[in-house]
Amino acid sequence: MTEKFEPKITAFVCNWCTYAGADLTGTSRIKYQSNVRVLRVPCTGRIDFMLLMKAFQKGTDGVIVSGCHPNDCHYTSGNYHARRRWMVYKDLMDFMGVDTNRVTFSWVSAAEGARWAQLVNEVTDNIRNLGPYAEYKELAVAGIE
Ligand code: FES
Repeated sequence: MTEKFEPKITAFVCNWCTYAGADLTGTSRIKYQSNVRVLRVPCTGRIDFMLLMKAFQKGTDGVIVSGCHPNDCHYTSGNYHARRRWMVYKDLMDFMGVDTNRVTFSWVSAAEGARWAQLVNEVTDNIRNLGPYAEYKELAVAGIE
C-alpha cells in the first residue's frame, strides 16, 4: 500500500495584510486545506533568498510569499521590493535547479479571508500534482549546498 503524498507548504506572510486576512479566514470559519504553516514577517520586503532556500532545506515542498496589495504596504514599498527581488531570485533558483513553480508570490489583504483560503487550496493542489520536493536534498548530498 502506497502512502498518499501530503505536501508541506511554508507561507511567509506580512503582519499587516495577509496574516490578518488568514486570521479572518479562521474567524469566518472558511475551510481550507491544512498543509500550510504560516510564518509571520513584518513585511514581504523582509523576504530574502536564503529564507526561501532554508525552507526547502528544511523539507518544505512549496512556498507562498504573500503581503499587502500594491500601494497598501505599511512600509510604503516593501512589497515592490519583494516583487523586484523575486525576479532575481527566480533566475537564481532556476540556475540552481530549483523548480520555481514551487514558489508562489501573491497579494492578500486583511479583508480577503476567502482569497487566502482559495490561494492555499490552489497552491496545495499544485504542489500535490508536482509531488514531493527532493532536488534540494540531492544538491545538498552532492555538496552543492
Ligand atoms: Fe504588508 Fe509590506 S507591510 S507587504
